[in-house]
Amino acid sequence: MAREKIIDIIVFNEEIGKLGYDLDQSKAFFQYNPDFLESGKYKNLFPFIFKRTKPAQVFTEFHQDTFQGLPPMIADSLPDTFGNIIFQEWLTARGIQKVTPLEQLAYVADRGMGALEYKPIKQLPNTSKVDIDEVISILEKVLKLKEDTSGKDLSELSLLNIFKIGTSAGGARPKILISEHIETGAIIAGDKEISDDYNHYLVKLHLDDSDGYNKEKVEYAYYLLAQEIGIDMMPSKLIENKHFATLRYDRQNGEKQHVLTVTGLTGWNFKSQPENSSYENVFKLALALKVPHKDVQQLFKRMVFNLIFKNVDDHLKNHSFIYNKETDSWNLSPAYDLTYALNPLFTFKTTSRALSINGKRTDISLKDVLIIAEEFAIKNPKGIIKDVQALTPRWSVLAAELEIPQKIKDRIYSDFDQFEY
Ligand SMILES: Nc1ncnc2c1ncn2[C@@H]1O[C@H](COP(=O)(O)OP(=O)(O)O)[C@@H](O)[C@H]1O
Ligand SMILES: [Mg+2]
Repeated sequence: MAREKIIDIIVFNEEIGKLGYDLDQSKAFFQYNPDFLESGKYKNLFPFIFKRTKPAQVFTEFHQDTFQGLPPMIADSLPDTFGNIIFQEWLTARGIQKVTPLEQLAYVADRGMGALEYKPIKQLPNTSKVDIDEVISILEKVLKLKEDTSGKDLSELSLLNIFKIGTSAGGARPKILISEHIETGAIIAGDKEISDDYNHYLVKLHLDDSDGYNKEKVEYAYYLLAQEIGIDMMPSKLIENKHFATLRYDRQNGEKQHVLTVTGLTGWNFKSQPENSSYENVFKLALALKVPHKDVQQLFKRMVFNLIFKNVDDHLKNHSFIYNKETDSWNLSPAYDLTYALNPLFTFKTTSRALSINGKRTDISLKDVLIIAEEFAIKNPKGIIKDVQALTPRWSVLAAELEIPQKIKDRIYSDFDQFEY
């Protein structure tokens, strides 16, 4: 294989292995650095899929778009729906037609989510200042949200900025990474800085009028509800009373944290494999990762919350696990993307959730939930369900305080599920 078709994978400043990619055959190769293997360090970094052996390992089965041929743990570093739009726009502006997944990783370099880094890197000029309003006006042009996109007028520099802070995080909603200086409040690009002089945020941007209401405020209200019921989430806030900013769990204590989504850990494709998209599988994964039982309890509470507050977009990339390098062990990551994901301005006949519960995606009953509780030894499941149900009136209070329009507030409230006892 030619040199440019190989990339180094670096974690916690150590080169842990090399990744190769054969474009013609859509095959990926991975080989551990023998020194790293022999050191016996970080044995659980990749608990599945990669074997801890010296010979190169070949992967041919991950060819769907989610993975683009790469092993799932590495594909987790690639841009997702929103990131890809920005990525493409930036390439087009620079006259580049197409890049391979390995080249994409070279652009991700040391700016990706989590702790995985890739080398050699594609060098990009330094940019530091971030003006959120400017970012938004550029995004409105890129995403063609405003009628007048004539002559787009996207300078190399303005696009570069967004390319660097808008392509790493997954998901479909517009978002950027920023770092806010704890003392001065100054905001800089969030792609490089990791020190604890800064708070590192993932900001889900509200682009005016794109949805007819402010989705980010709804997400913030859900965050407040989740807090009240003791669901573990990173501290979050609204910026300018409209953008949802959440502290990054992959940047804590001035260090990068290794995190992977359920899809990244397992190779279960969140888009095309409904058979793997079940809460039972997420619970089984938690057990296979030997998380403490309190995390299993958390996952149960999160599931009940998603059920009662009708967050149907609870797919496999909306759950992650976080690695502790001191203990070489895994925990459930804080919850994220808890929100009312449907459009409350539409009426849906059936709303089917991404993750099934006892084989069902609609009409889930108390019995179905209790079957899961039994299987995974959940303590006091009925008490948890009752507490979450008792929280539903708080939605109306919080939504009113946040000035979420009455129509949206009522429509969402009417969609909440309650179980009969
Ligand atoms: N607080 C956070 N810290 C670190 N990573 C996060 C955090 N919240 C979300 N992410 C990562 O970013 C991705 C996109 O965020 P998400 O809220 O799911 O956006 P979307 O609504 O576009 O799906 C998630 O899949 C997750 O991997
Ligand atoms: Mg998401």
